[in-house]
Amino acid sequence: MASSSRGEFTSSFGFVMAAAGSAVGLGNIWGFPTQTAENGGAAFVLIYLILAFLVGYPVLMAEFTIGRYTRLAPPDAYKKMGGGKSFFWIGILGLVTVGFILSFYSIIASGMIAYFIEPVGRLLGLEAFSDWVISQGASSNMVFTSIFFLLTILIVSGGVSNGIEKWSKRFMPILFVLFAVLVVYVLTLEGSAEGLSVYLVPDFDKIFEPGLLTSAMGQAFFSLSLGVGGMLVYGSYVNKNANMVKLGWLVTLCDIGVAFIAGLLIIPAMYAAANQGTEIFDASGALISGPNLIFQVLPSLFQSMGSIGWVVAFVFFLLMSIAALTSSIAMLEPVVAYVVDSKKVVRKKASWMTGGFFWIVSLLIVFNFERIFDLVVTVTTVYSQPFLGLAIAIFAGWVIKKNMLLNELKNGYPEIEGTFFYKIWPIFLKVVCPILILVVFLQSF
Ligand code: ALA
Repeated sequence: MASSSRGEFTSSFGFVMAAAGSAVGLGNIWGFPTQTAENGGAAFVLIYLILAFLVGYPVLMAEFTIGRYTRLAPPDAYKKMGGGKSFFWIGILGLVTVGFILSFYSIIASGMIAYFIEPVGRLLGLEAFSDWVISQGASSNMVFTSIFFLLTILIVSGGVSNGIEKWSKRFMPILFVLFAVLVVYVLTLEGSAEGLSVYLVPDFDKIFEPGLLTSAMGQAFFSLSLGVGGMLVYGSYVNKNANMVKLGWLVTLCDIGVAFIAGLLIIPAMYAAANQGTEIFDASGALISGPNLIFQVLPSLFQSMGSIGWVVAFVFFLLMSIAALTSSIAMLEPVVAYVVDSKKVVRKKASWMTGGFFWIVSLLIVFNFERIFDLVVTVTTVYSQPFLGLAIAIFAGWVIKKNMLLNELKNGYPEIEGTFFYKIWPIFLKVVCPILILVVFLQSF
């Protein structure tokens, strides 16, 4: 792939690493296993897989294709394809949503960085410093959130090929290797087999519990980073010779694969921790999820391992930090791309301006954590993101002329016309995705 003045991925591998980096994040490694544990084990996995393939993949392909066709960020991309005023505002809502997601995501990511630095501090004998690092108070949250923002802004300001692609190509293979090493190691621990069976044996009664569908849909949208413009903008940097259908599959498979394998890591690790005497159930008898899982249950498992535990803790939180960073750059990028495309501001300035703005929002959340953190998470991920996904499916299925997107996909895949994908994708965008999203979305009220 050659480079254009707007920026372009230089290879299909670079694009897949960047888009998979956007998708694979804390949502996969932390969110997916805990949601699975809370929602009937393999029953949730099954529903998640169905929704990811039936709804997630078609919407992801719509985003990639709109991006590559228009070579613009939302909302201009929607405008160029006939979206009018309403889709202009939907595009703006996407950018606001992704900015707020970045703001809360960075706070969670700051915890990952803190816990990754802590074992190093202890190894160097800096006990007081290490205690402060993981105190999760406003001061340490502020410092590590700021560091995380700084890294995000620096990578995005480097540009598409020199920043996002370069770092994704470095980080993602490291992430896959660390991940594989950890899974193999955890599965050798005593007690992990019980976790494996909790994870893999379905409790089908739970399928009908209200909330399971909503959680699975929310998880699929969050994990594939849909609706908020990141995937659309990444698509806008893909060369016309690339086979988007194949690349879209690879990204989806990476995302789903990592989520699934994360379940093989986290849940067995919890049961291994239980085997060492750590409490893994909360007062209601459910498996501990949320921050206590990552910041209490797992660290106590690592501690019980003796000196190898320091290494395992370091590797685990390094993995989490990398996963968070490759996702956060894809959250800042659509906002930056919009400012660059539409306001003709140079990338560096746009990155510091927009990144700086959401950094301040993030600090406001840090200092009002109890009051607004959960609210921001719920509004952006439970309501706004599925709504935006619905809007994109309607836009791609009903507003854009049918052949525009299919013709765009012929670039790089001339034989697409005879394929199964060619026949069913438009039906999915027109009927299946909007109906499924709507049903699940209405259920969440
Ligand atoms: N898709 C990213 C994640 O799963 C945001 O964490």
